[in-house]
Amino acid sequence: SSDDEGGEEYLFKIVIIGDSAVGKSNLLSRYARNEFNLHSKATIGVEFQTQSMEIDGKEVKAQIWDTAGQERFRAVTSAYYRGAVGALIVYDISRRTTFDSVGRWLEELKTHSDTTVARMLVGNKCDLENIRDVSVEEGKSLAEAEGLFFMETSALDSTNVKKAFEIVIREIY
Ligand code: GTP
Ligand code: MG
Repeated sequence: SSDDEGGEEYLFKIVIIGDSAVGKSNLLSRYARNEFNLHSKATIGVEFQTQSMEIDGKEVKAQIWDTAGQERFRAVTSAYYRGAVGALIVYDISRRTTFDSVGRWLEELKTHSDTTVARMLVGNKCDLENIRDVSVEEGKSLAEAEGLFFMETSALDSTNVKKAFEIVIREIY
């Protein structure tokens, strides 16, 4: 498609996955609207936001999808992943169980994606250093072993949120 100036326009679908309460919805709201909610409710079904960025003078739009970590609240899995070219796989650095689930999320992503997907492992809530349960090294080495980008983020204080999304978007582009 083309924009008003007749230039190319790009639209990429990115999905956010990971266990419930790791901060998927807050990462998205921080990135797309610079908003954070301390008392956000569990997501039911699917939500998405479109965010633009400029790369090499071209407007690149990312349609970022967010769904429930809880099985009973999730939408149809195949529809959620369909057409995705980027993924953020999120865990909470203060809860090891969420890190242990990463392998399962990667399996699901692999099962349902039809093309190469740019993947970023995200250790969220890095502001909670005092109750850290997963070391930076563990995150890094899992990412290396699986061939993923890696970043620790905080949706609360904004650390690396923009970076995490934009690395994935640039990789796709
Ligand atoms: P589901 O929709 O159930 O899958 O959860 P989710 O992954 O979307 O988590 P959500 O964004 O709703 O955040 C869950 C809780 O963690 C909320 O109380 C947030 O305020 C909190 N939270 C999210 N990100 C951070 C963060 O970076 N740091 C801290 N300290 N808390 C966070
Ligand atoms: Mg959510």
